[in-house]
Amino acid sequence: MENSDRFDAAQSSEGRYRLLVEAITDYAIYMLDRDGHVTSWNPGAKRFKGYEAEEIIGHHFSTFYTEAEREQKVPALALEEAERTGRFEREGWRVRKDGTQFWAHVIIDAIRSPKGELVGFAKITRDLTERRAAEAKLRESEQQFRLMVQSVTDYAIYMLDVEGNVASWNAGAQRIKGYGPEEIIGRHFSNFYTEEDRAAGIPRTGLQTATREGRWEHEGQRVRKDGTRFWAHVVIDAIRDDDGKLVGFAKVTRDITERREAKAALQAAQATLIRSQKLEAIGQLTGGVAHDFNNLLQVISGNLQLLSKDIAGNARAEMRVQSALAGVARGSKLATQLLAFARRQPLEPRVVNVGRLIKGMDELLRRAIGEEIEVETVVGGGLWNSLIDPDQLENAILNLAINARDAMNGEGRLTIEASNAFLDDEYVRHYDDLIAGQYVMIAVTDTGVGIPSDILERVYEPFFTTKAEGKGTGLGLAMVYGFLKQSGGHVKIYSEIGAGTTVKLYFPREMAIEDTLVSATSGDIK
Ligand SMILES: Nc1ncnc2c1ncn2[C@@H]1O[C@H](COP(=O)(O)OP(=O)(O)OP(=O)(O)O)[C@@H](O)[C@H]1O
Ligand SMILES: [Mg+2]
Repeated sequence: MENSDRFDAAQSSEGRYRLLVEAITDYAIYMLDRDGHVTSWNPGAKRFKGYEAEEIIGHHFSTFYTEAEREQKVPALALEEAERTGRFEREGWRVRKDGTQFWAHVIIDAIRSPKGELVGFAKITRDLTERRAAEAKLRESEQQFRLMVQSVTDYAIYMLDVEGNVASWNAGAQRIKGYGPEEIIGRHFSNFYTEEDRAAGIPRTGLQTATREGRWEHEGQRVRKDGTRFWAHVVIDAIRDDDGKLVGFAKVTRDITERREAKAALQAAQATLIRSQKLEAIGQLTGGVAHDFNNLLQVISGNLQLLSKDIAGNARAEMRVQSALAGVARGSKLATQLLAFARRQPLEPRVVNVGRLIKGMDELLRRAIGEEIEVETVVGGGLWNSLIDPDQLENAILNLAINARDAMNGEGRLTIEASNAFLDDEYVRHYDDLIAGQYVMIAVTDTGVGIPSDILERVYEPFFTTKAEGKGTGLGLAMVYGFLKQSGGHVKIYSEIGAGTTVKLYFPREMAIEDTLVSATSGDIK
């Protein structure tokens, strides 16, 4: 249309409509006469269908239909319906001039004269091919996504409705929680929580937080179908529609039991290492002090002995020198114990069979711990030999027995067991300078009060004691620890509050045959 024509057209309202229709390229807008012949054509129609106005005006609109539809008289039926009801609306395939097809949304309106007489039809067609393709793509990607979610097995991924009832269920959810979809869909998700968490309102808090803040993240224990528990990392996301209305929740749960256990094991290993390094440091310090202290005591003791000759006959002075010498003896015992802890005591190791040695201690033990406590010794057959200072071993066992006695308040059972043992790589990994291999194990078990875990961490420290002043110096286990380390062995304590304690001593196996028969000397009991 020329510019001047366009100006003229714009002067009347009818003309303005025509301008509008002729400017539209996204819709095919054209008219049919009462029989269905095309009587007008706009740029949109030309764009979709490919015909110029002069090529198509006067032709029947059924040209745009597929042959199959033409055979079924779909075009005629469409006009009939539009005539009868005023409007016909459908989606379907239409044919372009070049024979290609497109997916069209079609509206046919009947046009009547003021008297009500049918004069023709207005037709509006939209090309929905792209939208249809986009929808198909979306459907496909949604389906792929659904398949992906369903087949993920490492994560439980599922939906909750607004109330918190399970609305979908994937393979991971089934694997982790044990329910099949048919058992759980429709049930409330609080079923997965522990009794305590439900009582504390955790599931409700989760949904409320997700609703308020969009997301809730939590680590805690959850319950499987079979009642067993696992550690879960949980995220709940609120899902809202385009208007912002809450439609449900997406829930992703991961089983982190193994990860937590690995972390705990690592922490325990680190704690063990730190403790042994601490004991190492204390040992070095104590060893040095005890050594010098011992030398000083030697000097004092030597001079006191000389002095006692000088004052022979003076009873008062002799008594004073005697009590000074007793003090020196106590000091020297202390120094010896500290040197034992510091792994600096002179050892006289011999190849011994600890079974025989333990059996020989019966009498000594009975006297040490009293009549009320039952003593049982169990020695495994074919016990290996070991290279140990027998006196110090006896001393160590006596110390453990006295600790056991103190823990049992006068009644209970003391069991001393000797057997062959193997410390594997996994076990020795947690300890400095401990080698995997064959060991002779001596276990001293009591049925006493047990050791609380915070105390258990400190029992080897010199001077650590829970006993009353004068009852214990806190050097017993320190000595045992140093002795075992100095002997290339290992100590480990297992304890349960109220049930009792087992102290296990490990000495490396010695292949050589036993030296001479070693008999337990029934020494003094402290
Ligand atoms: N069998 C046991 N049962 C319960 N607690 C124990 C046992 N053995 C040791 N303990 C705890 O470990 C602490 C340290 O023990 P350790 O033998 O080193 O010192 P002690 O017995 O207190 O004093 P000492 O042995 O020098 O006379 C004890 O005070 C006690 O609290
Ligand atoms: Mg003790």
